[in-house]
Amino acid sequence: MDSVLGLTPVIPVVVVEDADDAVPLARALLAGGLGAIEITLRTPAALEAIQVVAHEVPDAVVGAGTVLTPDHAAAAAAAGARFLVSPGWTERLLDAMCGTGLPYLPGVSTPSEVIDLLERGVTDMKFFPAEAAGGVPFLRSLASPLPQARFCPTGGIDAARAPEYLALPNVACVGGSWMLPKELLAARDWEGVTALAKEAAALRPGARWS
Ligand code: 3PG
Repeated sequence: MDSVLGLTPVIPVVVVEDADDAVPLARALLAGGLGAIEITLRTPAALEAIQVVAHEVPDAVVGAGTVLTPDHAAAAAAAGARFLVSPGWTERLLDAMCGTGLPYLPGVSTPSEVIDLLERGVTDMKFFPAEAAGGVPFLRSLASPLPQARFCPTGGIDAARAPEYLALPNVACVGGSWMLPKELLAARDWEGVTALAKEAAALRPGARWS
């Protein structure tokens, strides 16, 4: 895999509170057709969750999200993450993510950040926080002046908004947690997660990405 963007049209973004939930959760998403899962490094359980999914659900491509420091990048790679995602980036973080050899998505929300990454040869980015930072009109406006940049918008996207993003020429996939509502996770309703994952997996990017 050389790009996170080619993986799947929808990347579920997960906050795992209890590492014991990680395997059934990953299996539920996979059963619904979502073969990639981004486990955010926002909880003490996150690294263990990545590790168990990497070992026990090998058909799921597990990655680490909310990678904020070089240590995060190294620990996620050591736990078995197969891709890295960050809500932003610094030079230090970029070097560390690149140094793992894993595909990674640094986050951007301005044209200057996009240009800075393009100057460094990085074309694949996360657009975050997508809805708050301008959403579909913002990304549509970047397509003409910065056609080399390809995005995974994340943040505030739901099943209703995702198709509009996926129709843009510079969007290959979207990320989000809408298929993992808190009530379903609290109830460990894995069948409910699978049902929402199925709907998300039916979404497709526009012609340029098919
Ligand atoms: C992220 O980490 O990318 C976002 O928090 C996920 O966004 P959402 O929960 O608004 O879908």
